Amino acid sequence: MQPLDDDNLLAVSDRYARFARSEAHGNSAFYEAVCEAIAVDEELCARIAELPPAKQQPNLVLASARYLDAPEHAPADFTAWLVDAWPRVRAVALEHRTQTNEPNRTGVLLTLLAQIDGPVALIEVGASGGLCLFPDRYSHTYDDAHRLDPDDGRSAVVTRCETTGAVPFPTRMPRIVSRTGVDLHPLDVSRPEDARWLRALVWPGQREREERLDAAIGIARTTPPALIEGDLNERIGDLVAAVPSGVTPVVQHTAVLAYLDAAGRDRFFDQMRSLPARWISYEGRGVFPRIDAQVPGGVRADENRFIVSFDARPVAFAAPHGQRLDWM
Ligand SMILES: C[S@@+](CC[C@H](N)C(=O)[O-])C[C@H]1O[C@@H](n2cnc3c(N)ncnc32)[C@H](O)[C@@H]1O
Repeated sequence: MQPLDDDNLLAVSDRYARFARSEAHGNSAFYEAVCEAIAVDEELCARIAELPPAKQQPNLVLASARYLDAPEHAPADFTAWLVDAWPRVRAVALEHRTQTNEPNRTGVLLTLLAQIDGPVALIEVGASGGLCLFPDRYSHTYDDAHRLDPDDGRSAVVTRCETTGAVPFPTRMPRIVSRTGVDLHPLDVSRPEDARWLRALVWPGQREREERLDAAIGIARTTPPALIEGDLNERIGDLVAAVPSGVTPVVQHTAVLAYLDAAGRDRFFDQMRSLPARWISYEGRGVFPRIDAQVPGGVRADENRFIVSFDARPVAFAAPHGQRLDWM
């Protein structure tokens, strides 16, 4: 075991305090209270600091605890349980990654996908369990005023999105003839443990997200997408080249490129500009500076909405889980 110094403990404490303030606040009162408690608990900070830096992230540690059925009625019980169960939590955190798969994001993606005529080969990079590969199998609602259902009727998965601006509300589903995902570590939702991990990544109290996730897992289990293990930069060229003529390749991704370094993101941008494919990107500020630079009025340094772009042109800001879409 590495000896811990105070700087390590302080860094963990600071990270959990910041997570409480800027990420959990307003989204999960329970996680906010738990992270505030961890930030001032020297014993827990010391244990977390023993993990490799990439594994210290609050989302991963908390999801690992949820995966093991940590008690969720009172924050103090959760943190006491975390101390007792630490060896098991640690093992789960070391084996897993944050791979949140959020089907609600498809409501945002669909506004662009629905504009593409003819048969589409949908390719998702960083697909996790592939649940964003089924936009045409879900029902979509925008502001409770616009709704689009799959051709065979209402879906058990209903996305919800509040909007501003001139959103091109979809009026028809894209004709998706193939669904392929690539991921460094694809999750197979037909495996109970992978589905359990995806559920653990949803935050406590987010019932609607849990129900949507379960329903989407049900759909993916009956018609599994093709999920390939690999790095997106290595695979994307071959995946696009494999699409038969007469079918439009569409590459989409959400909340993925932030995992790459700047050189990896640049390489992907350049590949996407030269490949014969349509390209829908839904990523955080700063991921593609060449797209951010085109946003009318610029992108504020504290912008926490994601930027949605179509063929490298920014079109909208969107909340990270697809719950809001502000057209530019
Ligand atoms: C936060 S998840 C998002 C999943 C999905 N796009 C969604 O929005 O629901 C990010 C995914 O990207 C994958 N990923 C990260 N870097 C990657 C890379 N270089 N190549 C392929 N997949 C990658 C991770 O394994 C993870 O499953």
